[in-house]
Amino acid sequence: MSNEWIWLSPPHMSGGELNYIREAFTDNQVAPVGRHIDRFEQELAEYTGIAHAAALSSGTAALHLALILCGVEEGDDVLCPSFTFAATANPIRYQKATPVFVDSENETWNMSPEWLEFAIQDRINKGGRPKAVIPVHSFGVPAKMKEITDIARRYELTVIEDAAGAMGSFYHEKHTGSFGDFTVLSFNGNKIITTSGGGALLSDDESKIEQARYLATQARDPVPYYRHSEIGYNYRMSNVLAGVGRGQLEVIDERINQRREHFKQYRLNLESLPGISFPDEPEAAFCNRWLTTMLVNPENSGGVTREETRLKLDSEKIEARPFWNPLHLQPVFRSFPWYGDGVCETLYEQGLCLPSGSGMPEPDRNRVISSIQEAFWK
Ligand SMILES: Cc1ncc(COP(=O)(O)O)c(C=O)c1O
Repeated sequence: MSNEWIWLSPPHMSGGELNYIREAFTDNQVAPVGRHIDRFEQELAEYTGIAHAAALSSGTAALHLALILCGVEEGDDVLCPSFTFAATANPIRYQKATPVFVDSENETWNMSPEWLEFAIQDRINKGGRPKAVIPVHSFGVPAKMKEITDIARRYELTVIEDAAGAMGSFYHEKHTGSFGDFTVLSFNGNKIITTSGGGALLSDDESKIEQARYLATQARDPVPYYRHSEIGYNYRMSNVLAGVGRGQLEVIDERINQRREHFKQYRLNLESLPGISFPDEPEAAFCNRWLTTMLVNPENSGGVTREETRLKLDSEKIEARPFWNPLHLQPVFRSFPWYGDGVCETLYEQGLCLPSGSGMPEPDRNRVISSIQEAFWK
């Protein structure tokens, strides 16, 4: 057995990134301005079909700016799924607004439209001010955007799509993020393409994206001396890192094919084990399969649990990760409103993300498969 760790989703460089980095050095554009940033933004817009993009230091920064741009402030409600990474909800608190956590539905594991509407109505009845909703396309699986945007329109909420892990996922042949008012992408080191750390905010509304760029560069007024009329942030992406992003974007389709192949092979080899299931691709969706996810239901598995499976993998130097522990259960968010009947809690108990890196060779994937089979044949 190889003695090397198999990681969940490590960066996968193509080599082409180095040409862009070299160019940034040659041009001495080693700052948060430069040609690569401009081109990366255009290329992101072309790839997603969303008209305008601002390249930023992280997906979290993009979420924060989106909330500012839709006027979210202290006392407003922002609805978001409980089943997501803390980065979806943290920026709501940066604005001193109230995160309202909504349960998942069983098909895509994303925000349940039924619970969303129930939560909005209940918050309005209680004197709340719902202002925006942040659906998340978890693990690259598109949320039910038709239903969610219908509800948002009815209650006049801005829709900010958190597509941090969903670059390259499509729904009804449109890129995830094309349905709402804003879209957030992340290029963190574990994402489908990476700039080591980085993100982007996209929208069809050019003036909003221009404003995002202005807020992201300390809100400097366009005058030849330093003048600031509002609070700004240092959220712009470096030109060097935008070069890395350009190199990564050139190979994104190949990366998605590799990840989809991992999903296919895991499913083919593991789904017959008792209690294990893999999510189907929802109707009209094309999933990037950023992470292969599976459920281990201990009622059907002869008692094998998700955690036992994870620990077995860990003992063989294979990194697998439990799903997100729902945010409404986190100490920092426990006092905020929550609407649901616990679908996301069951997902947390049963869910495991398997190594899915696009650079993972077949023998490593086979090692993961054998290890899981052994956990069930013990
Ligand atoms: C669902 C979700 N939203 C937001 C983020 C934040 O992105 P970033 O790490 O680029 O700030 C992440 C990052 O992993 C994420 O998984």
